[in-house]
Formats: sequence, C-alpha cells, structure tokens
Amino acid sequence: MSKINDLMARGTELLGSDYAILCGAMSWVSERHLVSAISNAGGFGVIACGAMTPALLDAEIAGTKALATRNFGVNLITMHPQLFDLIEVCAKHRVGHVVLAGGLPPKGSLEAIKASGAKVICFAPTLALAKKLVRSGVDALVIEGMEAGGHIGPVSTSVLAQEILPTLADEVPVFVAGGIGRGEAIAAYLEMGASGVQLGTRFVCATESIAHPNFKKAFLRASAREAVASVQIDPRLPVIPVRALKNAGTEAFTVKQREVANKLDKGDVDMMEAQLEIEHYWAGALRRAVIDGDVENGSLMAGQSVGMVSEEESAAAIVASLVQQAEAALHARG
Ligand SMILES: Cc1cc2nc3c(=O)[nH]c(=O)nc-3n(C[C@H](O)[C@H](O)[C@H](O)COP(=O)(O)O)c2cc1C
Repeated sequence: MSKINDLMARGTELLGSDYAILCGAMSWVSERHLVSAISNAGGFGVIACGAMTPALLDAEIAGTKALATRNFGVNLITMHPQLFDLIEVCAKHRVGHVVLAGGLPPKGSLEAIKASGAKVICFAPTLALAKKLVRSGVDALVIEGMEAGGHIGPVSTSVLAQEILPTLADEVPVFVAGGIGRGEAIAAYLEMGASGVQLGTRFVCATESIAHPNFKKAFLRASAREAVASVQIDPRLPVIPVRALKNAGTEAFTVKQREVANKLDKGDVDMMEAQLEIEHYWAGALRRAVIDGDVENGSLMAGQSVGMVSEEESAAAIVASLVQQAEAALHARG
C-alpha cells in the first residue's frame, strides 16, 4: 500500500472511494455530470442540493445514479425549510453519505439520516462545536477555512487544522477544506492527522463540469488575490461572508444589503426572512454566472486556490495529478 493510501485509509473506508478527496458540493456546478465524473475517477463527488425542491433532488440523485459507478454523497443545507423531506428523498435512494452544511444540524436531523443507514458528515466551524458534533454521533467532520470559495467562516484552514486535528483526528475522520490547489498541501494535512481533503475551486474547470465557458474562463484568468470576501455593510444585518471573484456583482451585493436592511428597519421582514432573502440572492446570482454565463453581474464564487486553476482538464486528470503530487511530497520526506 502506498503512503497516501495508508494516510487516507480511514477516509476511504468511510467514503468507499479510492482516494479521500471530496469534491465539495458547489451549487449549480455539482450536478450529475461533475459528481459522477469525480466518483468514477476514484474521488468522492457530492451533489449540491442548495435550494432544490425535494422533487428536483429526487431527479438529480436518479440522474447521478445512472452515470456513477461508485459512491457519491448529497449536501443538504440545514436552513432549507424542507430539510426533513430532502432527507427522506436521500433515504429513498439509499444515498450512503449526507453532508450537512450551513450551521448546526436541527434537532432530529442527524437521527433521521442515520436511521436511513447513511453516514453523516458535518462542517465544524470551531473546536467546541466539533466536539459537540462528535458527541452527537456524526461519522466525520469537514473543517473549512476562509480561503475557500463560497460561504466562509472567519478562520484560516491552517489554524483550524492545528486547533482541531490534534484533538479530534483520532475520534472521527476529519476532512480539511479551503485553499487546497495541489497535492503537496494534501500531503501536509494528511501528515497532521487529516483522513482526507475537500476541494471545490480546483474542480470547477473540469471538462465534465457544466459551468458556462465564461465562468470557466474567469477562473482560468484569475489570481488568488482576486478572490475576495464580501463585506457586511450594516451591523444590524449579519451576513455570512462569501468569497468570489471581484466584478460588478460585488457592488450589487452592497446595494442588496442596503435594500434588505431597509426592509428590516421598516418591519417588512424579520431577521430570519432578511437572512433568507440574502441567501436567495446568492443562489440567483451564482446561477446567473454558472448557468447563464453572466460573469459581470452574477456571482463568481471562487476560493483563493483559483490562481492554481490553469487549464480545463478531466476530473480524472485532476484527481490523478493531486494524488501524484501528494505521493511525491510524501516520498521526498522519506
Ligand atoms: C462556486 C462554489 C459554490 C459552492 N457552493 C456550496 C454549496 O452549495 N454548499 C456547500 O456546502 N459548499 C459550497 N461551496 C464550498 C465547497 O463545497 C468547498 O467546500 C470549497 O470550495 C473548498 O474550498 P476551495 O474552494 O478552496 O477548494 C461552494 C464553493 C464554490 C467555489
């Protein structure tokens, strides 16, 4: 067994894949084609449910099953109003792995997923919450730093890894995400105790990704410093920062926040509705860029590793080069 397989053993056992390299769910991007291509290449693809209805998720899982020869997972957002219906759809299809994103799992959700026989993987933003999730029975954790694309927390990947891996890596498999563009970084996190990694940005330009050619072109051109975090303009309206390439859409988000903050002031919406309106805005803006190709006004969610995306290549080629780089790094260290 090679060293990378050794270090990833708990991750690959949990996922049932050749390599514990997850392609993190990306709304609009992580649909049947990319998900099946990643899993068929030996990694682990995850469908992004995002704001899908149960019927749409049902169709997407069926479509992915038709293309995938290996395991794949489904990412559900905890604040989705129909979360429990979505869990039922996953159970109906006997999806083996459900990834819960977007905040602490609501009461009963972990139990409902586990009752279906699926493994539950949760995002852990701090050590305290990670410990709580482990006590609640999650099967694995993802720790994602602020270098990542999409919605982000405030702490960097390297700091989260140092805080969480020494304490929890022996208890459950931990997958490290955020800012990983090459295999050398994968090797380093495996040596620190991670059981695997999750990448998003690096897979956007896979040949099998249905992202619009304009979206892919923007990724191929961009450097790390262009992937910036959104700014909260009103202290009364907390918004989760989103990392994306800077464009006219970045300014439009400022305008949107003002509009929602005004509605909040007038009492037209409560805080929960205000935050949901912001999330719907992002989903729409991302669709505009990923599907319609409007890279000026849509949202170009991307992580800082975007500077390491230099060509369109197959999912299998990306997985192979990450593995080869990680192997070489581990080998060089003896
Ligand atoms: C375009 C885009 C869309 C994303 N959408 C989601 C999502 O819907 N749900 C989620 O949990 N994470 C989402 N993410 C985060 C990824 O799943 C992954 O954790 C992240 O991209 C890893 O960091 P990296 O971009 O530095 O590789 C998204 C990321 C990107 C780039």
